[in-house]
Amino acid sequence: MVMTEFGVSDIAIYIPPFYLSHEDLAKARGVPAEKYLDGLGNHKISIIPNWEDAVTMAANAAVQLLDKTGTDPNEIQQLVVSTESGVDHSKPVASFVQGALKIGSRCRVYEIKHACYGGTAGLINSIDWVSQNHSPPKKALVIMTDIARYAFGSPGESTQGAGAVALLVEKNPRLFSMNTSLNGIFSQDVFDFWRPTGHRVPIVDGKYSIECYLRALEGAYTHLRSNHGIEKGRFFERVDYLVYHMPFGNMAKKAHRQLIDLEYDGLNPAAKEQIFAETFPRMVEPSLLGVREVGNIYTGSVYMGLISLLETEGENVEGKQVGIFSYGSGCGAEFFLCRIKTGIRSILEGLRFKEQLDRRKRITFETYVQTYSKSGEEILYHPAEIEAFKDSFTRFVFTGFRDHKRQYL
Ligand code: HMG
Repeated sequence: MVMTEFGVSDIAIYIPPFYLSHEDLAKARGVPAEKYLDGLGNHKISIIPNWEDAVTMAANAAVQLLDKTGTDPNEIQQLVVSTESGVDHSKPVASFVQGALKIGSRCRVYEIKHACYGGTAGLINSIDWVSQNHSPPKKALVIMTDIARYAFGSPGESTQGAGAVALLVEKNPRLFSMNTSLNGIFSQDVFDFWRPTGHRVPIVDGKYSIECYLRALEGAYTHLRSNHGIEKGRFFERVDYLVYHMPFGNMAKKAHRQLIDLEYDGLNPAAKEQIFAETFPRMVEPSLLGVREVGNIYTGSVYMGLISLLETEGENVEGKQVGIFSYGSGCGAEFFLCRIKTGIRSILEGLRFKEQLDRRKRITFETYVQTYSKSGEEILYHPAEIEAFKDSFTRFVFTGFRDHKRQYL
């Protein structure tokens, strides 16, 4: 008997058209560039211009996904946008996206927030929703969109970024399926990173946030192993690649070392380091392209890691088991396994991730400060300017406010 599966059929990413280099940031802040490049493992920060926001990034990622999968917007019956960069306290980003994409009204539309974990919450919920409503088959569109911003000159500034990821969830998926009941879960009430209402940037207890992340990894890994009946010390035999939530590149190194410590707690440090040297380049390194080039994109971060893996490894990923660890401050975490399907060449060809990275323009430190000092309320673009902002990836832009209503074209 053929088992019905539910999961992700395709994936798309949108990255805004500007970046700030870590060399330029380091120079302006009087910090050795090696601290950012080697100490944190980041090279560029994706910068969002004032004519874009969480809505345009979400719509720009989703329109690519609908186009490349040939999905009619009216086929989408659940639209979930996960974000911690919402544009309104009441109206969800998802409603703006519904309007932009012309998704029909027989659709459940809502926004989810749980820091960076919100994206995974939306995905899991949508897989469960599709599996319960599969006859006739239903499709869900899950979008993660965020602007990772920190206070000027703060330690978090070098870990900024911006971007959106969109996933198409359906029955008999083409990319991977998931049995959500086997996922490893961990959550706890902590103050590691939070943004009180009215604050433009988060308050961060940076070192403590790393501790919380690693504790959540331990909790979710222990639960995942027990759900799958995997003995301690045998986990790496069951997984080909690992994609960790990556606020900065070297967080993946910290996470992988933590997993090795948990798996092989009886081994001496040199033996563990040998396991790290053997497994990290093979299992983790291929997922790092995005974080190095873009920075943190909060909800979409771990899925940008998955896209990086697909882009870097190409068809080698077919049939391989990927472990995905999603973490959000506050905190919530989920660790799950997914086996990549075979015959995914057209999905890989449609990613166009490197093309988007290469299209970006480098901006100066001064332009970055000017851009991030303005608030959206000050802006109203002239229609002639708007056309100049658009290209084959930037299809939707924010044009300003009219009667307190955000306008998009
Ligand atoms: P910091 O104080 O700027 O940096 O904070 P540091 O002094 O800890 O140095 C960082 C690393 O650079 C260290 O390496 C240094 O040794 C090294 P490590 O000990 O960690 O291996 N270093 C150098 N290397 C080479 N040459 C040099 C040099 N100098 C120092 N000259 C911190 C770093 C990450 C805490 C800060 O950037 C921060 O607060 N970031 C934001 C919070 C964050 O990213 N937390 C991560 C876990 S929480 C999470 O992931 C959730 C999140 O995504 C939000 C959400 O859920 O929505 C953030």
